[in-house]
Amino acid sequence: MPTPSPPLWEIEPHTKAKHAILSEYLKAWFQILGRNNLKVGFIDGFGGPGRYLHGEPGSPLIALDIAIKSGISSKILFQFVEENKERFQYLKNEIAELKFPPSFEISIKNESFANILSSILDYLERNSFTPSPIFAFIDPFGFKDVPFSLIQRLLSFERCEVFINFMVDSINRWLEHPEDGIRSHIYALLGSDDTHSIIHSENRVISLRNMYEDRLRGVAKFVLPFEMKNKQDRTQFFLFFASNHRLGHIKMKEAMWRIDENGDFSFSDASHRKQSIFRDFDLEQKIRSLQSDILQKFGGCTCVPSRTIQQYVEDETIFLRKHMIKALKIAEEENKIFVRPTTSDGKTRRKNSFSENTLVDFC
Ligand SMILES: C[S@@+](CC[C@H](N)C(=O)[O-])C[C@H]1O[C@@H](n2cnc3c(N)ncnc32)[C@H](O)[C@@H]1O
Repeated sequence: MPTPSPPLWEIEPHTKAKHAILSEYLKAWFQILGRNNLKVGFIDGFGGPGRYLHGEPGSPLIALDIAIKSGISSKILFQFVEENKERFQYLKNEIAELKFPPSFEISIKNESFANILSSILDYLERNSFTPSPIFAFIDPFGFKDVPFSLIQRLLSFERCEVFINFMVDSINRWLEHPEDGIRSHIYALLGSDDTHSIIHSENRVISLRNMYEDRLRGVAKFVLPFEMKNKQDRTQFFLFFASNHRLGHIKMKEAMWRIDENGDFSFSDASHRKQSIFRDFDLEQKIRSLQSDILQKFGGCTCVPSRTIQQYVEDETIFLRKHMIKALKIAEEENKIFVRPTTSDGKTRRKNSFSENTLVDFC
């Protein structure tokens, strides 16, 4: 998408899909973290004007609405950043219209994201305390002002996580730009100026995605990419979630599965209306492939508690518990596993069930 110059612009289907993932995740995030912490922080680093051309809410209004509806009583610090003066004013006016509980502290800055994030990080590092959980949504139009050094610093705090729009199409187009100034933004974003192998790779989009995913995996335990394509079915960007938390990882996977029930973690403006046609067929094949991963991982092991299999599935694959259960049921029907009649806590197993204490023998 070319960078729009008017303050408001038309919303596209992939933006709606991006908002749907964000909303699904934030519903869980505010509920879970708000219940267990006195304070949580939400940063929207590229806030936008608050609404799209036809009145659809933008990410700051979406996040505020979910937080209000969550009804949690812990303090929520919202930091919205928008560099463009006119959009900043729109955003301020939109937020001024809303009513919040007194536990909300809202700051809106007409500044650059990198400046604001580095002052937040300087403050946290200077005071060397463990900050409250922070979720940062980083949604630029292009590749400027998202240096990897800042993402790395933020993720070094155990309870901070990021959801980044990695604009792979524009990065790819500008990667060999003759101006050093332009390329330097890309190098900062990638955290490396060594792009030789990407430039000469067969598929630069995939190579860029892999490079960024590897960078994030170096600083976060869990990383999930979700691909977004435009009307021409061309990849525009990847949304990358990076976190050090198991539950956050599971909740984000659930959000992504809800948007793409096929499990490809991909959305296309070109085909989103047709996307459900082959869903079940593809999903069945994916469950088969999960089954063979599980059989390979635990092959030869006996008395494996279902909870151990679940941890593997949830932490190391794109699948969820419900997929594991389907895969194990098929394996049992086909005699590829033997399920013990008694669970690890001495109870009789209910037919076809895979509770966390169910014990499985792998051939
Ligand atoms: C993709 S839009 C954000 C849309 C918004 N997150 C949403 O989902 O509704 C990117 C926004 O970032 C603003 N922007 C561009 N450079 C920025 C920077 N360095 N720091 C903060 N905001 C910036 C742009 O003016 C634009 O409004």
